[in-house]
Amino acid sequence: MKPPRKLHIKSYGCQMNVYDAQRMVDTLEPEGFVETGNPEDADLVILNTCHIREKASEKVYSELGRLRALKEEAARRGRRMNIAVAGCVAQAEGSEIIHRAPVVAVVVGPQSYHHLPELLARAEKDGRALETEFPAEDKFAFLPPPKPDVIRARGVSSFVTIQEGCDKFCTFCVVPYTRGAEVSRPAGRIIDEVTRLAEHGVREVTLIGQNVNAYHGEGPDGRIWRLGTLLHRLAGIPGIVRLRYSTSHPRDLDETLIEAHRDVPAVMPFVHLPVQSGSDRLLAAMNRKHTADDYRRAIDRFRASCQDIAFSSDFIVGFPTETEEDFQATLALVTQIGYAGAYSFKYSPRPGTPAAELREMVSAEEMDERLARLQELIDSQQSAFNKAMIGKTVDVLFERSARNPGQIVGRTAYLQPAHVMASPAIVGRVLPTKIESLERYSLLGELAAPEHPAAVTEQASTPNETRMGA
Ligand code: 5AD
Ligand code: SF4
Repeated sequence: MKPPRKLHIKSYGCQMNVYDAQRMVDTLEPEGFVETGNPEDADLVILNTCHIREKASEKVYSELGRLRALKEEAARRGRRMNIAVAGCVAQAEGSEIIHRAPVVAVVVGPQSYHHLPELLARAEKDGRALETEFPAEDKFAFLPPPKPDVIRARGVSSFVTIQEGCDKFCTFCVVPYTRGAEVSRPAGRIIDEVTRLAEHGVREVTLIGQNVNAYHGEGPDGRIWRLGTLLHRLAGIPGIVRLRYSTSHPRDLDETLIEAHRDVPAVMPFVHLPVQSGSDRLLAAMNRKHTADDYRRAIDRFRASCQDIAFSSDFIVGFPTETEEDFQATLALVTQIGYAGAYSFKYSPRPGTPAAELREMVSAEEMDERLARLQELIDSQQSAFNKAMIGKTVDVLFERSARNPGQIVGRTAYLQPAHVMASPAIVGRVLPTKIESLERYSLLGELAAPEHPAAVTEQASTPNETRMGA
C-alpha cells in the first residue's frame, strides 16, 4: 500500500464551499489522501475559491505566490507539492490561472470536483489538467460517502447541498455564470445522506443551495418535491432534531415551505431571506423580480405561520445609480422588518455580469458612508434581539467544548452562540438553557435542568464562574 499523502484545503466564501471542501476530502480519501491543517507538509494544496465579491481573484493570486515559495521549499527537500485551484474563481478564470500562475497543476470548476482523482493523474502525466465544463451528470452521485469517523469528527451540525446554481440572473451576481443553471438533487439521495449523517452523530442539518427554496428535486414517489416536503420528510429521520436551509429567494416561497415552519418543530424559526435593497427602482435594475412590498408580504406570510420566527438578510449598498432616496428606502425597510442580524456589502462589479457595464457608479466615499449607516442600524437591531434573550430559557443544541475549560458551546434556534459550564456529555443534545448575560455576540447561561443526569458535573457552574469561549 502507498504511504498516505497529505491534503490541505483552504476554502473561501460561502457555506457551499465549506461543504464542497469536505466532499473533496471524501473524494480523495480513497486515493490515499489524509487531511492536514498545515499547508507546509501537504503533498496537495487545494484553494477552494470564491468569486462573489471584491478582489477575490487578486487574493487567490497572492495566495498562489505564497504557495509557490512553499512548493519550492518542498522541492529543495526532495518532495513534490501539487497545487490545485477549485471553486468559482477556477470556473471564471479557467486557463488564465495557469498562464498567470504556472505553479498551478490543476484547475477544477465547482461542477467537476468528483473528477479530481483523474485530473491529478492527468497532471502527473502531462504537468497540467483543467476542467471547467458543466457536466450533465450529478456530481454528488459519484462521490464516496464520508466515513463514520470523519462524520463524527466534523461535529453535530452538518451542511448538505440539495441544489446548486441559479436561474435568477440578478444583474450584479456572478453565480449563474460560475455555478451554472439551477439543478436539484433527487430527494432520495438527500434522505440517504442525512440518514447516514444522523446515524453517526449529526443532529442538525442545514440544507444549502444558491437558491435553496427553488428546490424541485424528484421525490422517491416519482413526483417533484419542493423544499417544504423535503423538510417534512427529513424531520422524520431518527436523530435529526434541527433543520435549517439557506439561501432563499423571496420569489420562490411556496406554501409547503411556509407550512413547514408551522407544522414541523425541527424546522428552525430563523430564515435568511436576502432582499439587497428597499428601493423598487433598484430592485428592478438588479433584476430581483420582486418589489419591496412583495418582500414585506413574504415576511408577513412567515410571521403568520410561525410567531417566533426571526430573519436575517443580505444588502448591497452603492449599486450603480443608487441615490440617497433609494438608500433611505433600504433603511426604512430594515427599520420596518426588524432583523436578528444581516450582512451588508459594498457593490463591486463582477466581470461578465450586466451591472458591470453600468457606468453611473456611486463614489467610494458615499458607499463607505452608506455602508456604515446601514451597519449601525443592523447592529442596533442585532444587539436588541440578543439582549431580549436575557432572562429567557431557550433551547440550545450543544456542539463542542469551548476553549475555556469546562465550558460547552452550542447554538440557539437563532444561531446565537450560547456558553454554559457543563459536562461534554451534553454535546449533541438540545437542552433548555437559562440565558443570563451577553458578551459581544455570545450568550452566557446555565442549564435550566442541571439535575438531569447527563448535565451534572463536578465543575457545574455558578453563574459568575461562567466565562466566554472562543
Ligand atoms: N457586489 C456586492 N455584493 C454582492 N453580492 C453578490 N454579488 C455582489 C456584488 N457584485 C452579495 C449579495 C448576495 C451575497 C451572497 O453577496 O448580497 O446575497
Ligand atoms: Fe445571485 Fe442569489 Fe440573484 Fe441567484 S438569486 S443571481 S445567487 S443573488
